[in-house]
Amino acid sequence: MRKPIIAGNWKMFKTRDEAINFILQVNDKMPSIDEVDSVICAQFTVLRCLVKRQLNNLRIGAQNMHWAEEGAYTGEVSSSMLKSIGVTYVIIGHSERRAMFNETDESINKKLHKAFEAELSPILCVGESLYERENGLTEQLLEGQLVKDLEGLTKEQVKSLVIAYEPIWAIGTGKTATAQIADETCGFVRSVVEKLYDKETADAIRIQYGGSVKTSNIDELMSMPNIDGALVGGASLKADDFITLVHAAVK
Ligand code: 13P
Repeated sequence: MRKPIIAGNWKMFKTRDEAINFILQVNDKMPSIDEVDSVICAQFTVLRCLVKRQLNNLRIGAQNMHWAEEGAYTGEVSSSMLKSIGVTYVIIGHSERRAMFNETDESINKKLHKAFEAELSPILCVGESLYERENGLTEQLLEGQLVKDLEGLTKEQVKSLVIAYEPIWAIGTGKTATAQIADETCGFVRSVVEKLYDKETADAIRIQYGGSVKTSNIDELMSMPNIDGALVGGASLKADDFITLVHAAVK
């Protein structure tokens, strides 16, 4: 049995006061961490104030990190810096970073290696564009991303990895993939992991769906066999919605 994981991706939203207000509303309403991993991935400026306030059933993650230990990388943040303030998760390779900030599969692979070395839990994002979906290129694209992103990772590392399958055409568009498409594609991602590793690894890895997940569609998505959770943008910004989403994962 894979434990569900619901992660909010706040993207570039929330000032310090807004972040504190949010965590004070959700903190004691999170289900037990024995039943679901509830994570907020926030921007760097509010990570410490969230970590300081988090109760036991909530975890805090970053949305990016650099692959080097330290160095002359103006504007970047390292895994050790995140670790030193109590952050436990990190999103790697979100499609917005791939598209707007020149993230490549090569840099994503380096970041994954570094995250594991630092004992952070990475959430690797993969997903196809509308062009690829409409032209039957989804599986080819996903397999290509996974082969390059996972290169050199051990079986034990991949077993503890979380992959977020996020079709780019469903992000922030209100256009959710149907539960069937989401499940089928998460199943395909799992089959690629089996091909690259083995069945034990594929059965252990947790795969989230992301893209316009809302309180109105979470139940159906979570009922699908290959979907182990959700990576949620817009709906994770509202405390009440986030509480509903994490509880839906427990049902
Ligand atoms: P939305 O839930 O706002 O569509 O964003 C999805 C996403 O990109 C999460 O990482």
